[in-house]
Amino acid sequence: MNIQSVLSDKVKQAMIAAGADDQCEPSVRQSGKVQFGDYQANGIMATAKKLGLNPREFGQKVLEHLDLKDIAEKTEIAGPGFINIFLSKNWIADNAQNALTAEHFGIHTEHPQTVVVDYSSPNVAKEMHVGHLRSTIIGDAVVRALEFLGHHVIRANHVGDWGTQFGMLIAYLEKMENEHASEMELSDLEAFYRAAKEHYDQDPVFAEKARQYVVKLQSGDEYCRTMWKKLVYMTMRQNQRNYERLNVTLTEKDVMGESLYNPMLPAIVADLKAQGLAQEDQGALVVFLEEFKNKEGEPMGVIVQKKDGGFLYTTTDIAAAKYRYETLKADRALVFSDTRQSQHMQQAWLITRKAGYVPDSFSLEHHNFGMMLGKDGKPFKTRSGGTVKLADLLDEAVQRATLLIEQKNTALNEREKAAVIEAVAIGAVKYADLSKNRTTDYVFDWDNMLSFEGNTAPYMQYAYTRIRSVFAKADVDQKQLQEAHISLNDEKERALAIKLLQFEEAVQSVAKEGTPHILCNYLYELAGAFSAFYEHCPILNAEPELKLSRLKLARLTEKTLKQGLALLGIKTVEKM
Ligand code: ARG
Repeated sequence: MNIQSVLSDKVKQAMIAAGADDQCEPSVRQSGKVQFGDYQANGIMATAKKLGLNPREFGQKVLEHLDLKDIAEKTEIAGPGFINIFLSKNWIADNAQNALTAEHFGIHTEHPQTVVVDYSSPNVAKEMHVGHLRSTIIGDAVVRALEFLGHHVIRANHVGDWGTQFGMLIAYLEKMENEHASEMELSDLEAFYRAAKEHYDQDPVFAEKARQYVVKLQSGDEYCRTMWKKLVYMTMRQNQRNYERLNVTLTEKDVMGESLYNPMLPAIVADLKAQGLAQEDQGALVVFLEEFKNKEGEPMGVIVQKKDGGFLYTTTDIAAAKYRYETLKADRALVFSDTRQSQHMQQAWLITRKAGYVPDSFSLEHHNFGMMLGKDGKPFKTRSGGTVKLADLLDEAVQRATLLIEQKNTALNEREKAAVIEAVAIGAVKYADLSKNRTTDYVFDWDNMLSFEGNTAPYMQYAYTRIRSVFAKADVDQKQLQEAHISLNDEKERALAIKLLQFEEAVQSVAKEGTPHILCNYLYELAGAFSAFYEHCPILNAEPELKLSRLKLARLTEKTLKQGLALLGIKTVEKM
């Protein structure tokens, strides 16, 4: 049940009946204050202005046509022309009942779309670092939200698996193999890359071989391709371990690296040239974009092919956009990457559109995010100033979560305790990231994320176990519970039930805007509404009928919290 869209449709129909055209915007929102009802229609003023009418008079006319029989118990005009909507208790109760019994909370999408989600996207022979962590975590939450709503998602792990650096990497792998390097030596990707680079910079014979290997790899030489595949495999096997630890849904099958697009690049560049979009400039092929200005205030030049014939990151992203529309038949393509890549993405997509490779209806979206900062406000680094490896970060999370859980006086056995620690550790790291608006930089702070207070994973996970414990004590007949009806007599019951029904709205926002923090905020508010209800409305000591009704609200809360956290990729435990 998406209350917001049900009400939007109804208000819009009434606006049209009152004289507006079908482009009018009802702008229905959740009300900020109880005295303004549960929902508000804010679009009356703008439409009245367009029609040259007095907003309150137009609002009055809209109210006369507004058919919210059964849905609302009161509607009124407020201020200069807002419509306040007070939902009916019975309607809320019936829908809560339905959310509990219907499959999938009764949520389904009328017109499912095909959505490509480009996320995680680490680079070959490089360790995944904290920058990739944000893309991986946020992207995966959005993927889960889209799938939950019924969309067809294609995960695209746009791995950096192509480029001139592969010459030196292949040459170095060959050297290591000749020296019978152990698996251990190969598994430290960062050290591997550094050593390859050192050889390249210092040993002219090695450098020459590396340059030859680049050419050979690009012309499809079998030996070089095999070596290249080994490098990709080595890297992705390690990344896969990180994904599994992080409870991220990516698998090897989702790798759609830069190399996939490489064969398409010559034709694209030739076409950009033929269309007159790209022109030669000092030996390179460049597209000049009026929309972007360089320092001199002139149209900015974007290189699509270098003087030596090499292609660029931008050229690949043009091909990727085209491929996602043409071959994957997607309706939307979402890219989750660092804000510093925003200009790059916008330029690649502007060229894609100018070249006519995708229609206007195809949505290209860069969901950018800020940097991860340390407590000192500077980019997150290790004590010695190096980049923090993801695997080390997760190890530290487990150590710290162990201390936190050990402090608590719990009656868990060792196996249960280990599961709780893992869920809390990984959950805390993920939730800390997901709960912030992704566009801003965020401060990584262990103490904040591993606390049972505030909008944190441990708090949410604990809230879930508290509801579970109510049921453990309730000793209730399941059949009786199923047949019981939800009735809303207390304000706190009503507030909780409305919050529960707003789950779909929160998930829709995540899917549409790529903003998991909306779902985190929602779940935090839901946990709060449950606490308020739990304090004011005794469950276990209530009269039988009331007890069952309240247990049903508790059950829907439990289900919603579990599902909501699962959409964020965060595990719940039964006891903690
Ligand atoms: N591999 C890139 C990096 O590590 C991210 C790729 C993002 N996706 C894209 N289509 N450009 O920065």
